[in-house]
Amino acid sequence: MIILAIETSCDDTGISLVKATGGFKRPQFKVLSHNLSSQTQIHEKWGGVVPALAKREHGRNLVPLLTKTLKEGGLRQVTTPQNSPADTKKIRKILEREPELLELFNKVIPTLKTPKLDAIAVTKGPGLEPALWVGINFARALSLVWRKPLIPVNHLEGHLCAGLVKEKDKDKRAKPKNPPLNFPALALIVSGGHTELVLTHGWLKYKQIGGTRDDAIGEAFDKVARILELPYPGGPQISKLAKETKNRKENPISLPRPMINSPDFDFSFSGLKTAVLYLVQKLKAENKLDKETKSFIAADFQQACLDVLLAKTQKALIKFKPRTVIVGGGVIANRELRQQLTRMITRNFPTVSLVIPELGYTTDNATMIAAAGYLQSLSKKKLKVAPKLRAQGQMPLK
Ligand code: KG4
Ligand code: ZN
Repeated sequence: MIILAIETSCDDTGISLVKATGGFKRPQFKVLSHNLSSQTQIHEKWGGVVPALAKREHGRNLVPLLTKTLKEGGLRQVTTPQNSPADTKKIRKILEREPELLELFNKVIPTLKTPKLDAIAVTKGPGLEPALWVGINFARALSLVWRKPLIPVNHLEGHLCAGLVKEKDKDKRAKPKNPPLNFPALALIVSGGHTELVLTHGWLKYKQIGGTRDDAIGEAFDKVARILELPYPGGPQISKLAKETKNRKENPISLPRPMINSPDFDFSFSGLKTAVLYLVQKLKAENKLDKETKSFIAADFQQACLDVLLAKTQKALIKFKPRTVIVGGGVIANRELRQQLTRMITRNFPTVSLVIPELGYTTDNATMIAAAGYLQSLSKKKLKVAPKLRAQGQMPLK
């Protein structure tokens, strides 16, 4: 089936067109088009995402991004504008809180022929509610005019499915060929809002075994970057700075590894961030915070996070004996984490396979939402056209 997916849970507007086949046993995804509109420049000067600005930008980006995506996916056909008066009224109601989006919608959508797609998937949560609402309302309005079923998707399930999409699938001739995924699987989600260890005995059924008690790992990277006066988003900046210490003398910084030996599968990153803050304040007062010291702090902070993640993942591997480890979320863009996790699994658990998203699908995007939407569509639930949907800021995987 062909799925149009929409993602607006945070500060990136994502729209993708994906052809999905294979069923639960061997899901395969061919990316017909994948588009992202980043708002980093807008939020950068505030040092973090401003929900009201994110909402406004999604409203501006969605319609142009949709036409671009349909065009690149070969599904954009223009027609003479036709409007059903009944739909116009309903659409005004659905988009009443997004006047700018409503205007763009009414200008552009009636000029497009109903594209040949089978369903629309949209992120329902978790995320920033004002941002989520824009994507949901847009998806509902499209679902209504095109009479296509709408699939609500959990953003976290999207991150877990990101590893099923292969960059080479972008090649229109290549046949996707994911090997069958063996369950039970252990899933590790590392993003700006989540740090979770989840067990699954099959797609759509999840049991959380551990999570963060305070800050999420990506959030900690972003906050520590701010303490070190690095630009937003901090994750990539920390890893860049940390890399500068490679092949240098031993790192003189030694930060705590919170909860590394605790008997559970939980995490805590807030104390680690505070340890960095106190250290930086002390070094500043002593006039000792030079560039090299900053890079050593970045490197040890990064390694502290990785040590805890790897220790807890390893403990879960020993206890639950999964056959596969699935990772997802923006922080898996971190090359050190990718390498160290891969090394730990191949060395210590050689029979366990690792599903890791390619770099282009690690941070928020709509292709992963299409993949999760496909799996959801295979469940017995009946899909509806323009169903009532609410954004859900907090939304556990279950
Ligand atoms: O999954 P994502 O795009 O958004 C959420 O669902 O939260 O993750 C964004 C997070 C940000 O905190 C960002 O700093 C972090 O992922 N991140 C990284 C790297 N690239 C992105 N963290 C560490 N190293 C990176 N290379
Ligand atoms: Zn995300």
